[in-house]
Amino acid sequence: MMRKNNPVLHFCFRRGNSVPSLKLVFAVVSTFYIHFVYSAVIRETDPRPWFERGHHDQYTWSRELGDDYVVTERAYAPKGYSFVVMKSRDKDVLYHGYRRCTSYYDFSGKEPIVVVTVKGPKEKKPCLVTDTELTYKTAMADLVDRNGSTAATSLKPLKTLDGTIAPMDLQGEQELFKHNPGIRAACRGRRIIDTRHGGGTAFSDNNRVVKVLLLDVVVNVVQQKVPPKTSSWRSSGFFDL
Ligand SMILES: *[C@@H]1O[C@H](CO)[C@@H](O)[C@H](O)[C@H]1NC(C)=O
Repeated sequence: MMRKNNPVLHFCFRRGNSVPSLKLVFAVVSTFYIHFVYSAVIRETDPRPWFERGHHDQYTWSRELGDDYVVTERAYAPKGYSFVVMKSRDKDVLYHGYRRCTSYYDFSGKEPIVVVTVKGPKEKKPCLVTDTELTYKTAMADLVDRNGSTAATSLKPLKTLDGTIAPMDLQGEQELFKHNPGIRAACRGRRIIDTRHGGGTAFSDNNRVVKVLLLDVVVNVVQQKVPPKTSSWRSSGFFDL
C-alpha cells in the first residue's frame, strides 16, 4: 500500500526483491530531498514576512484617546526572537488626529531600535528608524500587563521623527541590516530614514506633522506633503492615509 502511494518507493521497489539496499538509500535520500525542495519553495512563495510566519504570542488592548473614545491596538512577539511588532491600525485613530501605524521593535542588535511605518503606500511612506528606552524585557512585561485591558499611556507627543531628511544610501542600509537583519522585511520597498542623529527639521509649507501611537510613546512624524516622485503608477495621486 505504502509503495503504491509513494511514487518514489514504487519506482524503487517495482521489480521487487533484488538489491534493495541501494534503492532504499535512494528512496530515503530522494524523499528527504523532495521534502527539502518543497519546503524551500513554500518558504520562498509565502508572501508573509518572517515575523508573521512562525509561532508568536498575541497581545491585544484598548487605548483611550479621550472623550471615551477607545481604539484597539495589538502586538505580537515572534517566538525565539527579540522582536516585537506593534500595530496601531484601528481606523478610529483618524478621528483623533492620529495616523495608523505599525512599529517594529528590534532588540537583537547592539542597541534597541524601532522602525516606524505610517500607513500608506510603501513607495511614499518611508521606514523611520529611531531608538527606544524599552528593553525586550520591559517591553514584554508591558505587553503582558496591558494584554486584555485598557492601557494607560500619556498622549503627549514625546518625540519628533523627521521624515524629510535624506534617506539612507545602499551602503547605510546594508550596514543597518547587518546589525538588525529582522527589520529588512519590514522596510522592503520603502526608503529608510535614520532619524536618530537629528538633522534639524526645516518646517515649511511642504511639510506637515502627523501623530502616531507607538508602544510606549506618542510621536510626531514630519512628512513631506508631496513625496518624492517614483516610477510607480501610484505616484500620480497623493494618498493621505
Ligand atoms: C492575551 O490575552 C488573550 C485574550 O485574553 C489570550 O488569548 C492570549 O493568550 C494572551 N496573550 C498572552 C501572550 O498571554
